[in-house]
Amino acid sequence: MAFKIGLLGLGTVGTGTVAILQDPVGRSPLLKEIEIYRVGVRSLDKPRAITLPPEVITTDLDSIVTDPEISIIVELIGGLEPARSLILKAIAHKKHIVTANKAVIARYGHEIYTAANQAGVYVLLEAAVGGGIPIIKPLKQSLGGNRVQSIIGIVNGTTNYILSRMTAEGAEFEMVLAEAQQLGYAEADPSADVDGLDAADKIAILASLGFGGRVKREDVYCEGIRPVSAVDIAYADKLGFVIKLLAIAEGQQGEESDHLQLRVHPTLVSKTHPLANINGVYNGILVTGDPLGQVMFYGRGAGAGPTASAVVSDMVNIVGILSSSDENPALDPLLSCTHQHYCQMIPMEELCTRFYARFLCQDVPGVVGHLGMSFGNHGVSLESVVQIGFQENTAEIVVVTHDVREGNFRAALAEIEALPAIKAIPSVLRVL
Ligand code: HSE
Repeated sequence: MAFKIGLLGLGTVGTGTVAILQDPVGRSPLLKEIEIYRVGVRSLDKPRAITLPPEVITTDLDSIVTDPEISIIVELIGGLEPARSLILKAIAHKKHIVTANKAVIARYGHEIYTAANQAGVYVLLEAAVGGGIPIIKPLKQSLGGNRVQSIIGIVNGTTNYILSRMTAEGAEFEMVLAEAQQLGYAEADPSADVDGLDAADKIAILASLGFGGRVKREDVYCEGIRPVSAVDIAYADKLGFVIKLLAIAEGQQGEESDHLQLRVHPTLVSKTHPLANINGVYNGILVTGDPLGQVMFYGRGAGAGPTASAVVSDMVNIVGILSSSDENPALDPLLSCTHQHYCQMIPMEELCTRFYARFLCQDVPGVVGHLGMSFGNHGVSLESVVQIGFQENTAEIVVVTHDVREGNFRAALAEIEALPAIKAIPSVLRVL
């Protein structure tokens, strides 16, 4: 028996998905059970890389999500609306959902999963994080015997590409961004990527799965890569680090495993760390669990083929269940979402981490002493202090701290900012 799917969106990932379904040889035998029944697009006239019978394609997306013949809706239009409303309407019509839409799941996951559980349908989203990298199913299933301690990811290919090129070429952000836009690696409006919003959506989803509770998207602290300069990348290099945009979910040690810190920010990563060598558009996600220790997921985080690979894997999962069970089977708890409570957030000022900071100061006696004094006043211990360049009576001093409570470090910075010899603090970055 063939399972009819309704595909919403025929852009890069939609086209990649159709290409896999139209060429099933050598892939999962379940692909032969899937029929591309209707495809919803914005424009019928757009030239496409794949061929579909004209009667399959429509601009009436509503008619697809309500069609009684269809059992699975594959939502690949992206964005918040109409994606959210179409998903909810499809669920109300008892369709299972496969989506690559991290923005909609990170913001409306609660509403969507509540509706899906009531309707007895699955909402699968392997393609929403890490493109082709299997990470959702491992977190839901394969790592179930572990107490997850942290999830640290390079989950945005655009920013990783930009930072990798800045590092390799000593180039500034604006120049590399402009070239990335010309090459199609960055969007015309790059803010979802470069301001860290896309990575924040993704870590909200991963944290919810890894730590077993709901997460509010607005609880993710978020800094993007616009302030990262070539100077900081060069200093980081001299100190043994590379700068990466990391998305981090860390659980508090001890009983309260749902107390989390969620953050996205540019981070100095030791060159010997497993994430330091994830370059270009690639993604890497490092999960630490008890008793497993570290496990790393690496691969292509975007693009037609990799993302469609994840979309099709979800379709195959649903078809596998539908073809082997009765009319109205109970939802498999390993594939559905059963979280009822929200994870508690630990405020950023309680974060304990190392910091990198760069100061521009007057080149006068006693500056380093004053800096050290202010740090000491707030319990900030320094791991290294470097003064390399100075021009026209301005010295550039770079410090790396030992682990310190963020609140203490910020208090020390405020005191330092007020010192007469300090001209500016152009950068403050966290160190992994
Ligand atoms: N804009 C995303 C990235 C695409 O650059 O990784 C996949 O979510």
